[in-house]
Amino acid sequence: MTIYLNGQYLPIEEARISVLDRGFIFGDGVYEVIPVYSRRPFRPAAHLQRLQHSLDGILLANPLSLAAWTAIFERLIALCETEDQYLYLHITRGVAPRDHPFPDPPVPPTVFVMANPLLMPPASLVASGVAAITAPDNRWLRCDIKAISLLPNVLLRQMSVDAGCSETILFRSESLTSNAFLTEEAFLTEGSASNIFVFKNGVLAAPPKDHLMLPGITYDVILEIAEANAIPYQIRKIAVAEVFAADELLLTSSTREVQAITHLDGKPIGTANPGPLFQKIHTLYQKFKREVMRAQ
Ligand code: PDD
Repeated sequence: MTIYLNGQYLPIEEARISVLDRGFIFGDGVYEVIPVYSRRPFRPAAHLQRLQHSLDGILLANPLSLAAWTAIFERLIALCETEDQYLYLHITRGVAPRDHPFPDPPVPPTVFVMANPLLMPPASLVASGVAAITAPDNRWLRCDIKAISLLPNVLLRQMSVDAGCSETILFRSESLTSNAFLTEEAFLTEGSASNIFVFKNGVLAAPPKDHLMLPGITYDVILEIAEANAIPYQIRKIAVAEVFAADELLLTSSTREVQAITHLDGKPIGTANPGPLFQKIHTLYQKFKREVMRAQ
């Protein structure tokens, strides 16, 4: 596999970065994941805009122009063996002696991009839905930045693996303590690596895109589909009780598309099967993807 690293295209086995890279030492960097369907990036402008937001959030200049990013994407996509892929972009503050403040004068950032095959969720999983667990959202207060320092997300996601589940759904409360997060005032933020939607009595609801969650590109696609198909929706704070009492729960991400959550902490959600809203959104999402790809 050929990857891009700091201006060079290299076999991944030959790619090297310094142990003093601030990404390695401090997790001082940001990333993006862009799905590629039929060798065409899906919503690249939206992903690059979110990358810019993340870079602004960590006070790091965008190292490349739009034309340069596009040229890298094209070359890596052409080299990848599958039609459907995902691009992974990773930028760190570069290599410098270990010290917390930014290097002064600044050093060149480290820029890494790779294209990997994108494995679609299997049909069986789409048909059966997935189980999830809950956990306190113990991350920082800038979850809108797609930071490479993902230790909380990694630990939270592993909790669901250890429980035999597919995702960990996160809740915050103003007075969060680790053993009292499912309190009345607790509210939904997102999944450990996905956004979450609640469907009740014909209305779709999602938390606002604020500093407590990653503004998902797939989240936007779902809302556009809802808008175009007269599915009523609300963007608002969602209480923990509403999540457990939902008729349907959905998770979304660039690599998992849209999936139905049928069980939460072992309790059934709605009928404990992917419901009519999921079926509708899933079908519309596939159609939408095909149309967007054809139109490009
Ligand atoms: N993660 N929230 C979190 C914390 C995420 O990590 C992700 C995606 C999302 C969904 O965003 P989008 O729809 O733009 O993919 C929400 C990617 C896929 C990852 O880290 O691999």
